[in-house]
Amino acid sequence: MQKMKVLFAMFLPLLVSVSSQAVVQKPNTGNFLRCLRDQSNPKNPITKAIFTPQNSTFTSSYVSYTKNKRYSNPNDTNLIAIVEAKHESHVQTTVVCAKSNAIQIRIRSGGHDYEGQGATDVLHKWQLVSSKLPRELFLRAMPQITKGANKTIAVNFIAQFLGSSKKLMGIINKNLPELGLKGEDCYEMSWLNTTTFWADYPVGTSTSVLLKRPSTPPGAFFKSKSDYVKKPIPKEGMEKMWKTMLKFNNHVFMQWNPYGGVMDKIAANATAFPHRKGNLFKIQYFALWIDANATKANLALMKELYGVAETYVSSNPREAFLNYRDIDVGSNPSGVTNVAEACIKAHVINI
Ligand SMILES: *[C@@H]1O[C@H](CO)[C@@H](O)[C@H](O)[C@H]1NC(C)=O
Ligand SMILES: *[C@@H]1O[C@H](CO)[C@@H](O)[C@H](O)[C@H]1NC(C)=O
Ligand SMILES: *[C@@H]1O[C@H](CO)[C@@H](O)[C@H](O)[C@H]1NC(C)=O
Ligand SMILES: *[C@@H]1O[C@H](CO)[C@@H](O)[C@H](O)[C@H]1NC(C)=O
Ligand SMILES: *[C@@H]1O[C@H](CO)[C@@H](O)[C@H](O)[C@H]1NC(C)=O
Ligand SMILES: *[C@@H]1O[C@H](CO)[C@@H](O)[C@H](O)[C@H]1NC(C)=O
Repeated sequence: MQKMKVLFAMFLPLLVSVSSQAVVQKPNTGNFLRCLRDQSNPKNPITKAIFTPQNSTFTSSYVSYTKNKRYSNPNDTNLIAIVEAKHESHVQTTVVCAKSNAIQIRIRSGGHDYEGQGATDVLHKWQLVSSKLPRELFLRAMPQITKGANKTIAVNFIAQFLGSSKKLMGIINKNLPELGLKGEDCYEMSWLNTTTFWADYPVGTSTSVLLKRPSTPPGAFFKSKSDYVKKPIPKEGMEKMWKTMLKFNNHVFMQWNPYGGVMDKIAANATAFPHRKGNLFKIQYFALWIDANATKANLALMKELYGVAETYVSSNPREAFLNYRDIDVGSNPSGVTNVAEACIKAHVINI
């Protein structure tokens, strides 16, 4: 259990990658690049923002924002250019030129990343209290497989609290004493320093690491999916999920992120982000593997886990979190951009 002084929010500069797709109209790459240059406002020239395979820095630009080894080689994609938008006009120009040349746009963004019965009991109680804790406290639960003689599910709890550890101890002891939180489980630090903690660096790591982009291709493959939970998942439901997780032969975990707080005071239709009032928490499912041969098995198991969870999560539509990119939902299998088709699949996006 960690304790810190302020909440984190991490968004990286807007990147737009542009890829051709087997669409009805054949994309015209040359016209597209000419259009970008012609449409660009001379005050904020776009040239320096465009990377094509002819630029020596194309691959490094690509891998620096590609965390997933499944997509680490730009040759395996239909990528024709990357626009590292430096000004909002670059985004507008890219959209206009892509549309007129039958080219699809993918928006890239950065940012985002334990035993048995006893832990399940605590987790079940966590579902009841986590969204009703004081607004200053964010308490995430992470069910995951533990390595050892026998595979088991353990639950890790991580929190950020805006206040002193003494005050936090009081809140936890009142609402979730089963956690057995102790003073030495907590770290006090500035809000800024919490950013490196959430990025999985050891406590005390300087925030300057956040400026570094990876210079080598990613070393692991992963698949992530998400769900929203509006009613507590019953114990038998959790057990079914653990049994499915135990079928994986590599790292797999879930992040249960409580909503509640201010989120619960805003109606779903009040802003562009609809996952507000009425959500207890969001689940992120995450599987990570190193062996390229394991990709098929992992994707199949993720599908199975998502299927097992269906009974217990939001429905009609089944909601998902846009920033955890999941090509299985909101996609256009026909290859033609069609919002209606994509929305049928699951995403609820207010535009
Ligand atoms: C990529 O190459 C083109 C053509 O030489 C150049 O105009 C452009 O500035 C280069 N892009 C970057 C990001 O350096
Ligand atoms: C992509 O293909 C080009 C041309 O075939 C090749 O020169 C380049 O090395 C390939 N890039 C990677 C990362 O495999
Ligand atoms: C692992 O499981 C076996 C069979 O159920 C059991 O006999 C053994 O004690 C377990 N080992 C540990 C370390 O829990
Ligand atoms: C923040 O982290 C740096 C180390 O990167 C440390 O020197 C500094 O004391 C920390 N500040 C606070 C207020 O936690
Ligand atoms: C939002 O939904 C509520 C009912 O759920 C409705 O009364 C309200 O008019 C809606 N607001 C907008 C802006 O659509
Ligand atoms: C992956 O599969 C290929 C072809 O079946 C095999 O040659 C290779 O050794 C396998 N790699 C690993 C790490 O198991």
